[in-house]
Order: sequence, then structure tokens, then C-alpha cells
Amino acid sequence: MALTIRIQQHGGPEVMQCIETEVGAPASGEVTIKQTAIGLNYIDTYHRSGVYPLSLPSGLGQEAAGVITAMSADIAGFNIGDRVVYAGGPVGAYAELRNVSTARLLKLPDDIDETVAAALLLKGMTAYYLLHMSFLVKPGHRLLVHAAAGGVGSVLVPWAKSLGAFVIGTVGSEAKAEAARKSGCDEVILSRHHNIADEVKRITNGMGVDVVYDSVGKDTLDASLDSLRLRGLMVSFGNASGKPPPVDPAMLMAKGSLFLTRPTLAHYTSTRAELETAANALFEVIRNGVVKPEIGQRYELRDVAKAHADLEARKTSGASLLIP
Ligand SMILES: NC(=O)c1ccc[n+]([C@@H]2O[C@H](COP(=O)([O-])OP(=O)(O)OC[C@H]3O[C@@H](n4cnc5c(N)ncnc54)[C@H](OP(=O)(O)O)[C@@H]3O)[C@@H](O)[C@H]2O)c1
Repeated sequence: MALTIRIQQHGGPEVMQCIETEVGAPASGEVTIKQTAIGLNYIDTYHRSGVYPLSLPSGLGQEAAGVITAMSADIAGFNIGDRVVYAGGPVGAYAELRNVSTARLLKLPDDIDETVAAALLLKGMTAYYLLHMSFLVKPGHRLLVHAAAGGVGSVLVPWAKSLGAFVIGTVGSEAKAEAARKSGCDEVILSRHHNIADEVKRITNGMGVDVVYDSVGKDTLDASLDSLRLRGLMVSFGNASGKPPPVDPAMLMAKGSLFLTRPTLAHYTSTRAELETAANALFEVIRNGVVKPEIGQRYELRDVAKAHADLEARKTSGASLLIP
């Protein structure tokens, strides 16, 4: 029997039930993983609340690391005892034990810890495509990064600095401002106290930034567009404050012939080669010290309701882990 989180309906953190389930033998193409660390991601709250509806009842969670304890006879390239990690669908990572397909499973290099991998794989591969594919960051580029001290932010900021960018971060508190500066932000804006676009214009001598990475959504859309230089790029990649309203193309013209993209990790890691490129790039920046894993919170798996509540209340900093 294995502790597993299930939801019967969408709603607040209270809808997550902690139950014991029987995990059968792995099906064709699958291995059984004894999970040692589970990554908490903001998308898990969208799945739980119904912002991104699931077919119910359902498990939750997109990311975990652990050790293979069983495998179907047709598996090649993996062995019992291998340390592995995965990020992305299908949901169901909130569990002690899980059968998963090897299609998107990655073997962990010896020097990458399971807790670090579970905390950073999804967020770090996201940072990779945002910095290298959505926009190709080069030395001297000016970036605005919202939630700079958050899970994705705390990977994206130091990685962007290593590419030679000038990084302005927004944060919700003084403590997070300190964390954002430590991870490399050149300038930090306290989003609850300042007009973000005015501050960006002041910092950039009226020019604006080349690219905005906006994961906050509804509350920051206008400020993000107003912070861009002529022909700048708005990367809207999340909705922590709610979905942003639709954007009229004419507004992009009026604000400076701006570009807008709304990417998702799945489309940037849709092939095995893309997945491995992104994961290996992340492992390398962890290995060479560019990205220092910031695991700000650890919760027991059965305390997942508190973990979700803290994340949604902006109480967390860096990445959060659920420990089975
Ligand atoms: N599209 C993709 O491929 C992709 C992949 C991964 C993640 N994401 C998105 O990236 C974002 C970050 O994910 P994460 O897991 O690393 O979470 P996170 O950044 O650790 O947490 C969200 C942060 O957003 C900020 N925030 C601002 N207004 C908020 C509000 N009204 N409610 C809640 N939070 C608010 C808070 O930081 P402050 O208090 O400092 O403002 C909060 O800590 C999420 O929007 C997620 O959906 C997208």
C-alpha cells in the first residue's frame, strides 16, 4: 500500500485527500518508482482548483524523483535500482509509489541529488527554454522577471546573469527582495509598494526592457507591457494571480509594436531530444554552481494542503518539496 493524494472535485486545498492505494505491477513500458522527493509546482494548484480542469477523480502532481523498484519485461535502458526523475504529465506524482512510463523518464547523473532534481527539474527546464528558446538572451539584454524569488525565478535569475543579462526582479516582500538580490538581480522592485512600469523606466533611463518574463498574469499584464522597449517581447508563462485578460493586437501596436508569446514547457520538450537537452543544460548549471538550488520549504506529503495554501498565499520562497 502507498500513500497517495487524490481529488474527487476541484476546489481549495481541503479537497486533497490522503489515501492508501494499491500500486499494481507496472504495465508495458512502465517502471515502478519508490519516490523520495516530489516537486511542488504552481500548476498543481491550477489542477486542484480547476483553473486547468482535470478528469475527476484524479491524482495530482507533475514531478518527482526516486528509485526504480520494478519494471515491465519490455523496458530497455533502465534497471532496478536506477535513480530517476520526471517532470510533466500525466498528473499523479503526489504518491509514495508510482508506475510511470519511461518515455519521459530521466536517469539522474551521480552528482545530482534526488531532492535537488525533484525540486528543480520542471522549474529549471522552464528557465532553460525561457532564456534560450522563447527569447535568446545575450549579454547586455535587459530582463524583467516577476516573482524573482519564487521557484522558477530563483533558477531563472542566476542563469540569466550567467548569460550576461541585466536583471530586474519583482517580489512581494523585503525578505524575498533579499533572496532575489542574493540570486543575482541587479535591481529589485517591491511589487506591492511601487508602480512596476514606472520603476522599470526609471532604472532603464526611460528605455524599457527587452523581455518580460511574466508568471503572475492578471495583476501584472499591464505593467509588463508598459515596461517593454519598442518591439520588446512579453513572455506570459503563468497565472499565479489569475488568468490575464485577452490582449487586443492593436494594443501591442499602440504600446510599441510589441511581441507577445504564451508558451508552455510541454511544447518546448515535446521530443525526447528536446527533453534531454533541457534537462542536461539544467544539470550542468547546477553542477558548475551557476544555479544554487534554493529549496525554501519541505513538507511531509500528508501536509500537502498546507503546502498548497502557503504557495497560493505568497508565503514561499524558492522551490518547495513534498517528502513521502
Ligand atoms: N508555462 C510554463 O511552461 C510554466 C512552467 C513552470 C511554471 N510556470 C508558471 O510559473 C509560475 C511560477 O511557478 P512556481 O511553481 O515557481 O511558483 P512560485 O513562483 O514559487 O510562486 C508563485 C509566486 O508568484 C507571486 N505572486 C504574485 N502575485 C500573486 C498572487 N496574487 N497569488 C499568488 N502568487 C503571486 C508570488 O511571489 P511574490 O510574493 O514575490 O510576488 C508567489 O510566490 C506559475 O505561474 C507557474 O504556473 C509556467
